[in-house]
Amino acid sequence: MHHSHNRATLGGKLSAVLVAAGSSVGLGNIWRFPYVAGDNGGGAFLVIYILCVLLLGLPLMLAEFSVGRATHRNAVGAYRALDKRWSFLGYNGVLAAFLILGFYFVVSGWTAEYMVHSVTGSLAKYTTAQEYQSIFENFIQNPWRPVLYTLLFVLATHFVIALGVQKGIERSAKVLMPLLFVILIALAIHSLLMPGGGEGFRFFFQPDFSKVTPSTLLVALGQAFFSLSIGIGTMVTYASYFKPETNLRHTALNVTILDTLVAILAGVVIFPAVFSVGIEPTSGPSLVFITLPSIFNGMPLSMVWSSVFFLLLVVAALTSTISLHEVITAYCHEEWHMSRRAAAWTTTAATALLGIMASLSVGILNGWKLFGLNLFDLLDYLTANIMLPVGGLFTCLFVGWKLDQQVLKDQITNHGALKFRIYRTFIFLLRYLCPIVMLLVFLDNLGVF
Ligand code: PFF
Repeated sequence: MHHSHNRATLGGKLSAVLVAAGSSVGLGNIWRFPYVAGDNGGGAFLVIYILCVLLLGLPLMLAEFSVGRATHRNAVGAYRALDKRWSFLGYNGVLAAFLILGFYFVVSGWTAEYMVHSVTGSLAKYTTAQEYQSIFENFIQNPWRPVLYTLLFVLATHFVIALGVQKGIERSAKVLMPLLFVILIALAIHSLLMPGGGEGFRFFFQPDFSKVTPSTLLVALGQAFFSLSIGIGTMVTYASYFKPETNLRHTALNVTILDTLVAILAGVVIFPAVFSVGIEPTSGPSLVFITLPSIFNGMPLSMVWSSVFFLLLVVAALTSTISLHEVITAYCHEEWHMSRRAAAWTTTAATALLGIMASLSVGILNGWKLFGLNLFDLLDYLTANIMLPVGGLFTCLFVGWKLDQQVLKDQITNHGALKFRIYRTFIFLLRYLCPIVMLLVFLDNLGVF
């Protein structure tokens, strides 16, 4: 099957960056990053995180871009086309995309509900952080409301995917990404001007390495891969729609910078707020849902600020759920020979089901645990801390050692049209540094040392 002839391609130069950044920038940056950083020592985590992004994440993103554009296939088809024995990497990706969507849709649903409550003013009724904590807990444990919002989000994602690569994915990224940046910068300025936030800045920017343990490294690595959307074939899938003249190196660099900038800005928005309302920065996944409404509440125009903040989360989430959905849709379409429409509906139905289960698992089904975790936490842990890093490790090994180096060079230099002065450094990172570091981090966490 050669689908590459009638496959969609993305338009202009900016499209590749916006679409890939749309995938990278998401709840991982604004919801997950701050609480993971809060749990793992704040500033010290930030330093380790940035090192992971630059030394491991960036080369991997470039590697995934190359695999995608060299083959013009979905994640499974791409690895299979290059070497049959490595198609498991594609399967790991499709499965991980499915599992991530399971909990990601749930959090996306929470953000949508909070946006609605902000707009209608019902979120402004409470005063203390404790009250916000209990309304958040009540809300996520409600048996049907979060499920409804999860389904709403699933349908919104489906709608964009059904419009196709150019009219759906590309167009939505071109509108939503600029919107996201404008909102985030406005919120960051707002936060900088807020009284009493200095402690938050100190927590976020002053590294205290006494909090760093081997598990911090794994968490930082997992967070970096999750945030950049690498290790599971999302960037392979998106790059399969890139044009031959797209500069992969610039695209990867720009996406990485934008993604990291958004995570840092999200920290700047959130930590001062956390400290000024006296919530523990280690309060976990509920962090942004409790601290921000309570901080906004004490301010003039509180409804506007909280509506805008939750709109930011909705937008960020949507461009990411689209990319995860596309990984599975493209796979079903090309490998199972379904029409794109049927592939999209299959993906939607399957992820909706998993999403409903995950949503209920933080409420009425909370007693159902595996390895001590409910389904929601299990999906998060399994993907971010295991499947993404393992996918990343094998991607490095494949692209660094197995793939014909000419294929890689052709992709990165656009068949010799572009220069790549640090090619040797890149190959060194991919062949030696990335796999060794990842392996050590893993073994250490398994208690081998
Ligand atoms: N990068 C997204 C975020 O930070 O929210 C989440 C994500 C999207 C992870 C796509 C993995 C992926 F393939």
